[in-house]
Amino acid sequence: MKIAVLVSGSGTNLQTLINKLHNDTSSNIEIAVVISDRKNAYALTRAKQAGIPTKIVKAQDYESRIAFDEAISFLIEEYAVELIVLAGYMKLFQAPFVRKYRNRIINIHPSILPAFPGATPVSDSLSYGVKLTGVTVHFVDENVDTGPIIAQRVVPVYDTDSEEELHQRIQIEEHDLYPKIIKLFAEGKIMVEGRIVSLPNSKL
Ligand code: GRF
Repeated sequence: MKIAVLVSGSGTNLQTLINKLHNDTSSNIEIAVVISDRKNAYALTRAKQAGIPTKIVKAQDYESRIAFDEAISFLIEEYAVELIVLAGYMKLFQAPFVRKYRNRIINIHPSILPAFPGATPVSDSLSYGVKLTGVTVHFVDENVDTGPIIAQRVVPVYDTDSEEELHQRIQIEEHDLYPKIIKLFAEGKIMVEGRIVSLPNSKL
C-alpha cells in the first residue's frame, strides 16, 4: 500500500514510519511521497536520506485554501496514494478535500481527544493540571481534531514535567502506536461506521 506522509516540522513520527514500515519490505507499505508546507521542515531531510520523493506545497502560493488542497490532491493521485498520514502537519483541510478522502486521512494528536484539541495540546494539558494525558490516532473530518477515534494511549503527567519532558513521554507512545495503526489499515482491518471505529482484538 502506498501512503503519503504530510509534515510541517521535525518529523520524528515520519522517521519511525520510515524505519518500521517503509524500510521493512515485509510490511508492504511504501511511503510514496512526503509533502511539507514548510520548506525548512527537518522532516524533508529525513525523507531525502531515506530516498523518498519530497514535495513542498505552500499555502501562500495559492489563491485560496481550496486551490492549495487541490495541489495536494493532485500529488495524492499522481503517486497513487491510498492513505494520507498526517504527522505533525499544521494545516487544516477544507471540506471538499475531506469529503474526497473520507476515512482515508489519519492524524496523530498528543492528547486524549476530545480533551485539548488544537495546536498546543501539550502546554494546554500542563496548564490545565491534568494527571493523565496521552495520544489519539483518528480519522480527519471537517472540523479540528474531531474525527472518528481509531486508538488512544494514556501517558502520566508528573508535577515536575516541563512541556518538553511531557511531549517526549507522549512521543514514545506515538512512535509505537502510529505504525501499528497504519499496518492494520493496510490489512483492511479497520472498520468505520459513523463515528465508531472497530479494530480486531489486536494488542495496541
Ligand atoms: C506530534 O506530537 C504529533 O502528535 C503532533 O505533532 C507532533 C509532530 O512531531 N500532531 P514530529 O514532527 O513527528 O516529531
